[in-house]
Order: sequence, then C-alpha cells, then structure tokens
Amino acid sequence: MTRGRNPGTAAPSTARAADGWDASVTAETRTRMRDLVAVAAPSWAGEAEIVCSYFATRRTVERDVAWLAAQAWKETRLVRALPAEARSGSLAAGTVEAHPEAVSEVKFAEEVKHFHLLVGLIEMITGARVGIEDLRELPEESRLQALRAPYRAGTPLERAVVDFTEGGGGAIYQVLGGVDGGPLERRMAAVFREIHDDEVFHGPAVIHSIAALARGPDDWSHAADLVGRIGHQRLRMRNEMFSFPLSETRRDEIAAGHIKPWPFPLAL
Ligand SMILES: [Fe+2]
Ligand SMILES: [Fe+2]
Repeated sequence: MTRGRNPGTAAPSTARAADGWDASVTAETRTRMRDLVAVAAPSWAGEAEIVCSYFATRRTVERDVAWLAAQAWKETRLVRALPAEARSGSLAAGTVEAHPEAVSEVKFAEEVKHFHLLVGLIEMITGARVGIEDLRELPEESRLQALRAPYRAGTPLERAVVDFTEGGGGAIYQVLGGVDGGPLERRMAAVFREIHDDEVFHGPAVIHSIAALARGPDDWSHAADLVGRIGHQRLRMRNEMFSFPLSETRRDEIAAGHIKPWPFPLAL
C-alpha cells in the first residue's frame, strides 16, 4: 500500500501514521501491534481464499449478483444507523450532518460511494436499478454485527478494535482488484481497487489508534481476543456471501491458523 492520502480528508490520528513511520512508537508497542496483526492475518488470508475459491469453482451470474448485493448491504450500515427520515437523502448525497457513531464525513462519503459502485456493478449484470430497499442482510452478517455491537458501544479502545476488523484487512478487495476477463470483470476490478484504497484506512490503519489507546498487556489481550473472535465470524460471513466455497473443515483449519497469513497492507 503506497498510495498517499489527502491529509485534509482523513481522521488525523490515522492519516499521519498510516502512510509513514511514526518514530514516537516504542519498540515494545510496535511488537504489540505486530502481534495483534498476527492474530488477524490468518482470517484475512482466509477471506481471500474464499474469494479465490469462489472464482475457481463456484462462480455463476446469479451468485455474482448475490455477493455483490451482500457487499452493497454492508456498505449501507452507516446509512442504516441514521434516523429513517435522513437515510434516503444521505444515501443520495453521500453526506451526513451528525452521525450517531461520530464517523467522519470522509468515511461516510466513502461508504456511500462504495454502495453506489456496487449497485452499479449489479445493474451492469442485470440491467435493473437497485436500491437499498432491494437488499437484505444475510444471517452470518447479522451474527457478525451482533458480535460487534456491544464493543461499538464500548470503550474507545473497543471501538477502535472493531474498526480495525473492518474490511478484513482489505484482503478480498485486493483479490477482487486483480480479476480479469471481459468488461464486467475489468469494471469489477476497478471498483474493488478503489474500495481497497479507501478501506485500508477504515480498518488496518486503525492499528495506530489501538496503539494510542492501549494502556497495558490486559488491553492488548482484550484486543487480541476481540480481533480473533470477529475474524472467525468474518470467515463465516464471507463464506456465506460467496455461496460457501469453503468446507466447514477448511474454514476451521483457517481459524486454527493453518494458512499463510495475509500481509499487512501498510508500513508497520
Ligand atoms: Fe466500504
Ligand atoms: Fe469501510
């Protein structure tokens, strides 16, 4: 990940640190950060394996529509958190005045942009327009959000840990950014390269916020426990989303660490 980011458009705590080496971080803290990444990286690699398996063995037009719709649903989470009367306007404009989760205007706009990019892909396949009302939440996605919910409402550290798990390290976006073939695949790849470059700052870059908030070994242990549990549920969510390309046995192997870890997409 080498792309820079307009420093005026990102949360200050991650924008400064994500693209460069923060010399103020102690060696011990950097080790803790790498240890936490090591907890997440097998699940991230597992998400990538799910997508690779999908394209190798499972892909159909109907399933493409299904996983794109599932991803589009995920992109609307911040919109769905708004009062009902504010949703359609915010989704159309990509703007929000005051979000209940205090997310930045930039992040909100990027998630709305992702939604529109994804429904554009669905419309390219089906020829039919897609709105938020046409999407639905899959069961494993519901379980993922239920797992995260108490921590989103928890301490600043817990909120940062949940954010860190967002997007699964960008692994599947990187894989999807490399698909090739006809016009659909080329547009798909372009869409997911753009999503990847945004999502690296929504998820992995938040390791720096965790480092700033963690006060000692107990905090890092708590973070590792959360990252591990959320990562495993993310595997279930992605496997469901891509029509179950992985067996339960393989999914459990990945959860147990039997996979080459996904490389962290930022300098650490
Ligand atoms: Fe997104
Ligand atoms: Fe995001």
